[in-house]
Amino acid sequence: MTHTQPLGRSDLQVPRLGVGAMTWGDASGLARFHPAKLAYGGAEGLEEERRAWEASIAAGATLFDTAAMYSGGASERRLGQFSHPAALIATKFPGNLRARAEDMPKELNASLARLRRDSVALYQHHFPSDRVDIPRLMNLMADAVEAGKVRAVGVSNYSAEQMRQAHAVLAERGIPLASNQVEYSLLHRQPETNGVLDACRELGVTLIAYQPLAGGALTGKYAVGQRPRGLRRFMMAGYFGGDSQTAIAPVVALLREIGERYGKTPAQVAIRWLIENECVLPIPGAKNSKQAAANAETLAFRLVADEIAALDAATRAWRSSAK
Ligand SMILES: NC(=O)c1ccc[n+]([C@@H]2O[C@H](COP(=O)([O-])OP(=O)(O)OC[C@H]3O[C@@H](n4cnc5c(N)ncnc54)[C@H](OP(=O)(O)O)[C@@H]3O)[C@@H](O)[C@H]2O)c1
Repeated sequence: MTHTQPLGRSDLQVPRLGVGAMTWGDASGLARFHPAKLAYGGAEGLEEERRAWEASIAAGATLFDTAAMYSGGASERRLGQFSHPAALIATKFPGNLRARAEDMPKELNASLARLRRDSVALYQHHFPSDRVDIPRLMNLMADAVEAGKVRAVGVSNYSAEQMRQAHAVLAERGIPLASNQVEYSLLHRQPETNGVLDACRELGVTLIAYQPLAGGALTGKYAVGQRPRGLRRFMMAGYFGGDSQTAIAPVVALLREIGERYGKTPAQVAIRWLIENECVLPIPGAKNSKQAAANAETLAFRLVADEIAALDAATRAWRSSAK
C-alpha cells in the first residue's frame, strides 16, 4: 500500500509523487505549437500514454497533472480517455491568456467535459496575471468546492505574497489553500530563497514541484556535446547551453554516484531528493511507460541525511539563480 498524505491541510489524500501529463494528447491546429510540444516533441501516443498511466497507478503515483492550456486541451482530453478508481486529476485554469476570474466557472465546466468527469481532485490557478483578480477567483474556487466540482484548491507560480492573499480569502470560506505549484529542482532552488517554501511551511500548503528533472538535464542523458534534439536546447538554454552543461556535469556525476548505491538512475535520485522534503510533491513529466515506471520507483527507496546534504552542497549555486 503506497503512503499517502493530505495535500496541504485539505482532506484530499495524495501520494508523495505525481505525473506531469503536459506533453500528452493529440494536439491539432495551432495547439501543435504549444511550447511544451515544441520543447519536448510530445509524448508517444495514445497506447503508450495509456501504459504510462497504468504503470504510474500500479506503482502508487496516482496524481496526474494537466492544464486547460496544455496543447489547447489535448492533454485534458487524453486523460479523459483513461479512468481508474484510484486516479486523481489535477488541472488548471485558464485555457487562454485573455480569461478573467469570472470566466472560471465556464472554463471549469469545459475542463470537466474534456476530462469526462464530474469533478477534479485539484483545481489550480495556473499563473497570476493582471487580468485575474485573486480574491474574486478564490471566491469562485470556493463556490466550485461547495458545488462538489473541485475537491481541493491550488495555485501555481504564485509568490509568497500572492499565496497569503489567496490563503486568506479561502480561509474566510473555511477552505484551505492546498498547494502552490512552482518550478523546483536541484537546478532551480529559488523557492528556498524567494519565500515560497517558507510560506508553504507556515501556511500548511504543499509545494508541487514542476520540472523536477530540469527538463531532462538531471537525467544524465544529456551532456556537453549531447544536447536534446528540437527546440528544448534553445527554450531551456539555462540547462542545455554549453556553459550550463559544463556546470551541471558534477551534479549529474554525484547523482550517478549516489544512485549506484541503490541501483537507481540520476533522474530517480534527483526526484527522491525532492520527496525527502515532506512538504514537496514532485510531478516529473513522463513521455512513455518506461519513464513513468522509473519515476514511480522513487516512491520505494530513500536517501540518507548525508546524501541529501551532499546534493544540497553541490547545488547551492542554483539557490539564487539559474546558473
Ligand atoms: N505550472 C506550470 O507553470 C508548469 C510549467 C511546466 C511544467 N509543469 C508541469 O510539470 C510537469 C513536469 O515538467 P516538465 O515535463 O516540463 O519537466 P521535467 O519533469 O523536469 O522533465 C521531463 C522530461 O524529462 C525526460 N524524462 C522524464 N522522466 C525520465 C526518466 N525516468 N528517464 C529519463 N528521462 C526522463 C523526458 O524528456 P526526454 O525523454 O525527451 O528527455 C521528459 O519529457 C509537466 O508535465 C506539467 O504537468 C507545470
